[in-house]
Amino acid sequence: MARTQDLISNRVDWVLAGEDTLSDAMRYALTGGKMLRGFLVLESARLHGVDEQVALDAALAIECLHAYSLVHDDLPCMDNDDLRRGMPTLHRQWDEGLAVLAGDALQSLAFELLADAKFGPHALDLIRALAQAAGKEGMVSGQMLDIAAESSPEPLTLAQIIQLQSRKTGCLISWSAMAGAVIAGADTTPLRHYADALGLAFQIADDILDVEGDAETVGKRVRKDAAAGKATFVSLLGLEAAKARAVELCDQACAALDVYGDQGDTLREAARFVISRDS
Ligand code: IPE
Ligand code: IPE
Ligand code: MG
Ligand code: MG
Ligand code: MG
Repeated sequence: MARTQDLISNRVDWVLAGEDTLSDAMRYALTGGKMLRGFLVLESARLHGVDEQVALDAALAIECLHAYSLVHDDLPCMDNDDLRRGMPTLHRQWDEGLAVLAGDALQSLAFELLADAKFGPHALDLIRALAQAAGKEGMVSGQMLDIAAESSPEPLTLAQIIQLQSRKTGCLISWSAMAGAVIAGADTTPLRHYADALGLAFQIADDILDVEGDAETVGKRVRKDAAAGKATFVSLLGLEAAKARAVELCDQACAALDVYGDQGDTLREAARFVISRDS
């Protein structure tokens, strides 16, 4: 993952070389993340023999899309957060207008990066899948359910929480894990099953960190989900059952990689990292 962070950061400097405020803000939004989604893209590309230089722009594209989602998620009209990745959130560093616009431009940049002949005959599949993962049936709809749940008089059921989280977090993670197979025109089923379990485990770990983590290590404000009345696995199942569920999902994710044999070991490690991370 450290190597992915270097590769993507270098590519960001190349793609976003402008000296204007908007470029500064976009680079800021792309700084300091774990780059798990970019890492998943590069790994799934490696498993399918896709050239790393080609995959790198798909990895950057998903990190742009993810960064946009976080910049908007932190806005006062959404989660109203001041701290992200150990730094002031973009609207605190600059202002809300720029945060909205930098998010918009990051989303556009994601699609511009993918609209390139180097992605070959399956480029349209890749682009369509990202539009679906990000949009009204994907991440945005998950964010919508998340906001609606805050003011809902009835607590969500487990099925509703799974739906919310699989959209809010799962869709972008699934796109990332399947990207290599899509570019290669290969079967995406094993990676889809891997990512379904991984995405849920990832969001459960995020919810647990909100309860158990400290802001300095996590890099963002903690204990905010309960305060905001957010529906999470932890709020519904309690901490211990949520942890057990994350372990179960990690095992499921690893098992889904059977067809890749030893070649899938890095992704198996990534699944274990996802549920044991402290940031
Ligand atoms: C945080 O995602 C937002 C969620 C979807 C839970 P990450 O934990 O991957 O954030 P960064 O990119 O590493 O900061
Ligand atoms: C954010 O979920 C998910 C997206 C931005 C799509 P959260 O609101 O739980 O993420 P954090 O805790 O602020 O990182
Ligand atoms: Mg949120
Ligand atoms: Mg948030
Ligand atoms: Mg959270």
